[in-house]
Amino acid sequence: MNASPDTLPLLRVTQAVKQFVLRRTLGDRVARRPGVLHTAVDHVSFELGSGEVLGLAGGSGSGKTTLARMLIRLVEPDDGQIMFGDSDVRAASGHALREIRRQMQMVFQDPYSSLNPRMRIGAAIFEAGKVHHQPGVDDEAAFVARVLDLVRLPASAARRFPQELSGGQRQRVAIARALAVGPKVLIADEAVSALDVSIQTQLLNLFLDLRDELGLSIIFVAHQLSVIAEVADRVAIMHEGKIVEIGPTAEVFHRPQHDYTRSLLAAHPSHTAPTPRGGSV
Ligand SMILES: Nc1ncnc2c1ncn2[C@@H]1O[C@H](COP(=O)(O)OP(=O)(O)O)[C@@H](O)[C@H]1O
Ligand SMILES: [Mg+2]
Repeated sequence: MNASPDTLPLLRVTQAVKQFVLRRTLGDRVARRPGVLHTAVDHVSFELGSGEVLGLAGGSGSGKTTLARMLIRLVEPDDGQIMFGDSDVRAASGHALREIRRQMQMVFQDPYSSLNPRMRIGAAIFEAGKVHHQPGVDDEAAFVARVLDLVRLPASAARRFPQELSGGQRQRVAIARALAVGPKVLIADEAVSALDVSIQTQLLNLFLDLRDELGLSIIFVAHQLSVIAEVADRVAIMHEGKIVEIGPTAEVFHRPQHDYTRSLLAAHPSHTAPTPRGGSV
């Protein structure tokens, strides 16, 4: 018998591949050597459940950002399958692709990349909701206040410009803008990495609250294991484009199976040693 639909994963990635052609040097061109292919994401498979927080950890250049962007085709996959519910992400175009991108929203490290510095925060949130015909959008002030409240900002923040806010507040606004279109999934790529530790913790708690309140699923990309430990139910460890290990966060951190995971954990300074939620296993 088939599994019932609500037990199916929300997102299923199977053998996803992305290769980049490395820049050819002048010498390569003179010698007519072709560009070298670099496999940034190398046959990666994983699933994301509804309401789950999946951490994606790994060193710089391990392919985390490339993989995250492939999920909504900001980077075109070269091979493999990405299923979002019943939708084949690689085959989608036009309205279907826009709908996939509405439902899977990215939050970046630098909120300036998603916020127009000349647009008031309220207008940015309203515009996002209006474009996607979100419920309640006919009453602009109430819609904006409700979305700001989700990220624990006062309604008065609507009148501010992004540069008038602190880094943590600005990241809350970036999250608000993502929430304004009614997503099912947030893909946070190093969304707290540039912030002070105390602000990081506040934002991680916000992500967890949003998961509980809205039933969101979250893919949380971070190179800091301490961040992953605070937020993720499961963690995937990336190394040289591959997921070398994936499992419940406490299990992976306490009983790493792969040498690379062990070296990542060992490289962590002891004062920030990751302590997964739920403690030891
Ligand atoms: N647009 C691109 N063109 C060429 N190489 C790229 C491009 N984007 C990423 N890469 C390469 O792919 C690899 C993975 O990068 P990235 O996904 O940014 O890693 P991470 O986010 O884990 O630091 C790196 O070697 C990087 O240099
Ligand atoms: Mg990255």
